[in-house]
Amino acid sequence: MVLDQFGRHIRYLRISLTDRCNLRCVYCMPEQMVFLPREELLTDDELIRLARLFAELGFDKIRLTGGEPTVRPHLVELVARMAALPGIREISMTTNGLRLKALAEPLARAGLKRVNVSLDTLDPEKFRRITRWGRLEDVWEGILAAESAGLTPIKLNAVVVRGYNDSDIVDLAALTLARPWQVRFIEVMPFADVAPFAQQAVVSTAEMIRVLEGEFGPLEPVGDGRLDGEARVYRIRGAAGTVGFISPVSEPFCAQCNRVRLTAEGRLRLCLLRDDEVDLRTPLRNGADDEELKALIRSAIWRKPWGHGLPEGVIPTARVMSQIGG
Ligand code: GTP
Ligand code: 5AD
Ligand code: SF4
Repeated sequence: MVLDQFGRHIRYLRISLTDRCNLRCVYCMPEQMVFLPREELLTDDELIRLARLFAELGFDKIRLTGGEPTVRPHLVELVARMAALPGIREISMTTNGLRLKALAEPLARAGLKRVNVSLDTLDPEKFRRITRWGRLEDVWEGILAAESAGLTPIKLNAVVVRGYNDSDIVDLAALTLARPWQVRFIEVMPFADVAPFAQQAVVSTAEMIRVLEGEFGPLEPVGDGRLDGEARVYRIRGAAGTVGFISPVSEPFCAQCNRVRLTAEGRLRLCLLRDDEVDLRTPLRNGADDEELKALIRSAIWRKPWGHGLPEGVIPTARVMSQIGG
């Protein structure tokens, strides 16, 4: 078991498989993004070795992220190898859904348990504007494919951006009336290059709840309204699914944090919103043995920062979201 200096038990690893993406969402990355050269990325064997070491340290949950994880070659084999590691209870993935139509079934067979799919609007035109060229229909087919493949419960992530999709939250929440999905509304966070944009575009959870209650009546807290991971979850009366709110700006959830991230080039990132990182790739490529690597990981995690102070201002991260893995 690995603890940090604040006594938090860290057991959830978010692995970014690539910094590349087949979209360019406005709140995530600039249109002219420069990607890492391929040799900078961890290889499949390096990823599996690190995942095994984290499992040996007591990590039991892995989430694959990106960029867009589905653009990584040999993804299905990689998932199968990770799923076979002793100690890993759940492998899930956060994806834009574009490639799920083809991949959902093979990924489920390989051992992937669940997917969270980004879906910010149900309006094809707005979807194109937010993603810069995405086709909503492809994502929708991807979500249905994930559901038929049993990658459930399905969670949909909507980053709410004023002027882009703030008027769409009612339609998105209405999806839960008939479907057993969880639609999660996320306050947009100010990262690096997109910080000035995000700061003026943030819509608070309190405002979103006011709008939804105006439309659907009082939202019923699920699980006493306590945090489920980083979301507070509610149900519209009589709905099949639930709505969740992820509020990193108005209500930071750092006290409950149980995660660290592995960036695509093999750096252990200790907090989403802080640039403290420890290079694991160099020792890995220089022949460090398992025990040395585990000691390095353990001591890095001990130094995990408390978190961020978003309500007080912008976090001047050097990286945008796609380079960190969401
Ligand atoms: P579950 O296992 O389904 O609970 O997934 P998850 O919520 O951990 O993962 P997902 O990738 O769907 O994350 C949803 C959103 O939560 C991300 O897009 C971020 O906006 C936010 N988020 C995830 N991790 C962190 C974190 O460590 N700190 C902060 N501030 N926000 C985070
Ligand atoms: N603020 C909040 N969430 C973000 N994501 C990307 N950029 C931001 C941001 N600036 C989310 C995506 C997806 C995950 C990978 O990160 O919507 O759910
Ligand atoms: Fe790609 Fe996801 Fe970033 Fe959109 S939010 S550009 S889909 S990584």
